[in-house]
Amino acid sequence: MKFWLIVPAAGIGSRMQADRPKQYLQVAGKTILEHTLGVFLDHPYLQRIVLPLAAHDRWWPQSALAGHPLVVTVTGGRERADSVVAGLQALPALGAGPDDWVLVHDAARPLLQHDDLQLLLDSLQDDPVGGLLACPARDTLKLADGQGRSLRTLPREQIWHALTPQMFRLQALGDALAKALHEGVAVTDEASAMEHLGHAPRLVSGRSDNIKVTRPEDLQMLLMATHKVRD
Ligand code: C5P
Repeated sequence: MKFWLIVPAAGIGSRMQADRPKQYLQVAGKTILEHTLGVFLDHPYLQRIVLPLAAHDRWWPQSALAGHPLVVTVTGGRERADSVVAGLQALPALGAGPDDWVLVHDAARPLLQHDDLQLLLDSLQDDPVGGLLACPARDTLKLADGQGRSLRTLPREQIWHALTPQMFRLQALGDALAKALHEGVAVTDEASAMEHLGHAPRLVSGRSDNIKVTRPEDLQMLLMATHKVRD
């Protein structure tokens, strides 16, 4: 079963307070983005990777993977969803058909494991909608009043954390994102656009350490994990 991959990498990562976008920080000899792409590059069913980058990105050309034959760069957009749309628009010219599977995976999630990627592909290959890696909430969850006080406790059994990759068919995802963006719906992941159209994406239970590197303290966890897993 072939699949295409979009890795939105056009963010600036301001919460990281670093001298460069977080996907270009070096961890264990590689950038975060290189760790992220590495999980996919040897997959036998991967067709191409489309990499939406910021308009004036000056870091990617220095990457060891710049010029890799499987990677095609495009210019991303203002929000993550705009970058994903730019990636989707590039796919037909590369040979993708409307019913082909497209995976979208954050550039800042370098700890995805091969097992989880394969689980997602195997779980969804015959699914009518598609879905995403996700993990059930562990902590007790509070609804806050905006002033630092807890109003009530949410039912944890129904709450999952959305992770990536998320996997949908090219045409269906393009249509869903276009409608959601047009209607001003908050689209922080692909599944939210599909939900807005009335679909119920399948939740595939993945590892909770597939974190999105966001804050400085995440780098320490990443460093420990890359030593343990990849070396
Ligand atoms: O900022 P955040 O961590 O939510 O971004 C998630 C992913 O989306 C990152 O890989 C980031 O580079 C990407 N992104 C993008 N285009 C934007 C904003 C974020 O490709 N305009």
